[in-house]
Amino acid sequence: MSTPVLVAVVLFMAMFGPSNGQLNATFYASTCPNVSSIVRGVIQNALQSDARIGASLIRLHFHDCFVNGCDGSVLLDNSSSIVTEKDAGPNVNSIRGFNVVDNIKTALENSCPGIVSCADILAIAAEASVSLSGGPTWNVLLGRRDSTTANRAGANSNLPTPFESLSNITAKFSAVGLNTNDLVALSGAHTFGRGQCLTFISRLYNFSGTGNPDPTLNTTYLATLRQSCPQNGSLTTLNNLDPTTPDTFDNNYYTNLQNNQGLFQSDQELFSTSGAPTITIVNNFAASQSAFFQSFAASMINMGNISPLTGSNGQIRTDCKRVNGG
Ligand code: HEM
Ligand SMILES: *[C@@H]1O[C@H](CO)[C@@H](O)[C@H](O)[C@H]1NC(C)=O
Ligand SMILES: *[C@@H]1O[C@H](CO)[C@@H](O)[C@H](O)[C@H]1NC(C)=O
Ligand SMILES: *[C@@H]1O[C@H](CO)[C@@H](O)[C@H](O)[C@H]1NC(C)=O
Ligand SMILES: *[C@@H]1O[C@H](CO)[C@@H](O)[C@H](O)[C@H]1NC(C)=O
Ligand SMILES: *[C@@H]1O[C@H](CO)[C@@H](O)[C@H](O)[C@H]1NC(C)=O
Ligand SMILES: *[C@@H]1O[C@H](CO)[C@@H](O)[C@H](O)[C@H]1NC(C)=O
Repeated sequence: MSTPVLVAVVLFMAMFGPSNGQLNATFYASTCPNVSSIVRGVIQNALQSDARIGASLIRLHFHDCFVNGCDGSVLLDNSSSIVTEKDAGPNVNSIRGFNVVDNIKTALENSCPGIVSCADILAIAAEASVSLSGGPTWNVLLGRRDSTTANRAGANSNLPTPFESLSNITAKFSAVGLNTNDLVALSGAHTFGRGQCLTFISRLYNFSGTGNPDPTLNTTYLATLRQSCPQNGSLTTLNNLDPTTPDTFDNNYYTNLQNNQGLFQSDQELFSTSGAPTITIVNNFAASQSAFFQSFAASMINMGNISPLTGSNGQIRTDCKRVNGG
């Protein structure tokens, strides 16, 4: 085929060909033009009484996308046809923010009934949460539809745990099409939010049966964490993921790693695994907040593109917790 003909064919396919499941930034431009400001308004309001809610909301988008793609599956409650993902190990007694998602859904149903999917609400809420906390803005790609199924086993197997090796975590990101750069950039979301003692206490007293703490843990930080999480104390006490600026979205996560102040083993591994390709990326983001912000926005779009339901697949749920009519 000659070049002009090839170009014409490619253009024609792009404009009129069968939908290839691509999301775009203007999906609701005519059907719900205020969607972003409505979502942002509800979150702004929620932040007044809960400084942590932005962190909780972006985590919901992450836990949605890694299990069957970004399809709102994480939001479904148990029912006759659904085994909820909320009971999976990485989620149970941990993921939160469902009331705020419901408030967003209600506001959107009042403005543009039956139009905006719950999966897209999570993607928009993630961006709003980051930008309201001082982080970057980006054009959220939209057009996802909601699943009619959940996958609890998938939530148990696909989501990374804080106890895993860097190579295992890298493999879990790779399994959903995300690379090492995405892993380091997206881990920067641990610049805000909280973690329970149970997610890192294994590092504080008897790391891997050594009788000693994790050697990659800053001794000053170790002392602080031991105070918050004493042996035989409560495992659910909350701790700031970023001890320097707990509620601000900035690049301090990476300077923390350089100072051996990563909260989770999975955080500190990005910097302390000898010879790992993640080290230079951490140093780059620690040195330049704008490099981090640019990469973070690009990687959020990559994560948001994981296997969405589009076109006539799935549905637009009326209630994010339930399949329509189910
Ligand atoms: C790289 C592998 C990751 C691991 C092992 C991991 C693990 C965890 C753990 C254990 C917690 C604390 C849960 C609790 O104590 O209840 C947490 C919290 C959090 N994670 Fe991650 N995470 C990872 C990646 C991500 C990504 C990619 C994002 C978002 C882009 C993210 C965003 C958050 C946020 C914002 C919180 C705080 C949530 C809150 O305060 O409610 N994490 N993560
Ligand atoms: C966005 O995607 C929808 C659905 O595929 C499509 O109808 C619309 O034309 C797209 N908008 C742009 C600007 O590509
Ligand atoms: C969008 O919001 C503005 C105020 O924020 C309001 O004046 C306008 O009527 C809204 N438009 C729609 C279509 O809801
Ligand atoms: C959901 O259903 C599963 C399987 O029937 C059950 O084990 C679990 O306890 C239920 N969870 C809730 C929150 O009701
Ligand atoms: C890494 O993954 C392998 C294979 O799934 C598993 O056997 C191993 O326990 C994992 N390692 C850690 C530290 O989680
Ligand atoms: C914690 O409890 C165990 C037994 O359950 C006990 O042997 C140990 O001394 C306790 N440690 C502290 C610091 O209280
Ligand atoms: C431990 O953290 C402090 C900041 O709190 C820092 O000055 C120091 O260099 C860190 N030590 C190590 C070994 O990273």
